Amino acid sequence: TLAAGLAIGLAYCIGAIPFGYLVGRLKGVNLLQAGSGNIGATNVGRVLGTKYAILVFVLDVLKAVLPVLMVDRLLPRIAPDALTAVGSPAMLRVLVALAAFLGHLFPIYLRFRGGKGVATGVGAVLALAPLPGVVGLLTWAAFLAAFRYVSLASIGATFLLLLTQIVTAPQPFAGESLPVTGFCAVGTLLVVIRHRTNLQRLLQGTESKMKPRPIWDH
Ligand code: G3P
Repeated sequence: TLAAGLAIGLAYCIGAIPFGYLVGRLKGVNLLQAGSGNIGATNVGRVLGTKYAILVFVLDVLKAVLPVLMVDRLLPRIAPDALTAVGSPAMLRVLVALAAFLGHLFPIYLRFRGGKGVATGVGAVLALAPLPGVVGLLTWAAFLAAFRYVSLASIGATFLLLLTQIVTAPQPFAGESLPVTGFCAVGTLLVVIRHRTNLQRLLQGTESKMKPRPIWDH
């Protein structure tokens, strides 16, 4: 139980690393006060350019993938008992992914002023349920290409990802799939709540659109 608790705590600490904020600081800007005030890849792109946005996106995705890999690869070797301490290895995978996701949303290092959960959430789903994760990524890209609002793409993608999990998991509300479905549902809810100011702006028509600039222009 101790090792399982440590794994969950470590996942939170990894998820809480505010890569967007740190990259901003290295470039001399405080992202909490620039652009949308968010520490996510979108705002990094808005303020610092696409190169940095891609870097932060990848790092924020990895924050959720690494803890799940740790459960799969490291724990069986160093603390096999931890795998069943919370019921099943599948449950522990979901709990570490959730801890990393919540770490990104509520990072202790930034007095809990975290991001909107899109990159870290998609990383978690890619690790827990690859098909819904990939559908989420593709939907996001399609929505972005069609409407040019990152926030709308994020909200649309998270709903489609949840739907994909429900439709494609053999038994989405039972057994090992249940916690994964639960994670997708909670994640979708939190992502939508985090986008409430974006939603207001979308309804008012004042949300910022992504400029269709090629990556090599930055
Ligand atoms: O992932 C966050 C994105 O959906 C919106 O970010 O900076 O436009 O509020 P931002």
